[in-house]
Amino acid sequence: MELFEAIFSRQSIGDLRPDPVPRELVEKMLAAAVQAPNHYKVRPWRFIVISGAAREELGEVMAQSFGAQFPSVPPEALEKERAKALRAPLIIAVGVDKPSLPKVLEVENLAAVAAACQNLLLAATALGLGAKWRTGAAALDPRVKEWLGLEADQHLLGMIYIGYPASEPQPVNRPGFEEHTTWKS
Ligand SMILES: Cc1cc2nc3c(=O)[nH]c(=O)nc-3n(C[C@H](O)[C@H](O)[C@H](O)COP(=O)(O)O)c2cc1C
Repeated sequence: MELFEAIFSRQSIGDLRPDPVPRELVEKMLAAAVQAPNHYKVRPWRFIVISGAAREELGEVMAQSFGAQFPSVPPEALEKERAKALRAPLIIAVGVDKPSLPKVLEVENLAAVAAACQNLLLAATALGLGAKWRTGAAALDPRVKEWLGLEADQHLLGMIYIGYPASEPQPVNRPGFEEHTTWKS
């Protein structure tokens, strides 16, 4: 797929088939992700690739986290939270390294990892996969971060849910850049 076609057709696809994503494709997406720019070449991205039964473990941690944050929720709400990790055959959680040197800025590490996420999403599109970048309360929760092997004060920038689209992706038509752009010459 040509680059501009991938950029313009990329869209969040949450309705995914349960079929597993071949390892070769997972590695292609990760290889694309790490081509992102990053200041001081610190490569601040951390990818945690979750599939199979590990999704059930993640769902359990997400439900525990939800229950701890909202103690009065009914069991059905916890069950719903638990099932969220099963919405895709593959989840790539993306963490951000904390700055290791005084000159490295947290915001720049976040920007670099966001660029890596976009590369990953574009690669998924080019490979015929559907993907959706998700965050929510789980992405802020220290229990979820701990399960992923991240530190509590490390950013978990997203959980990218990936699989084959359940239906044919539709053409997208987003507003243009004009209202967000000032020209100076
Ligand atoms: C940092 C970030 C966090 C997001 N978190 C969620 C989320 O928790 N749930 C969700 O449904 N979509 C989430 N999204 C996806 C956006 O809702 C989606 O990109 C937006 O609706 C535009 O649709 P598009 O991706 O098809 O262009 C997130 C996107 C970004 C960049």
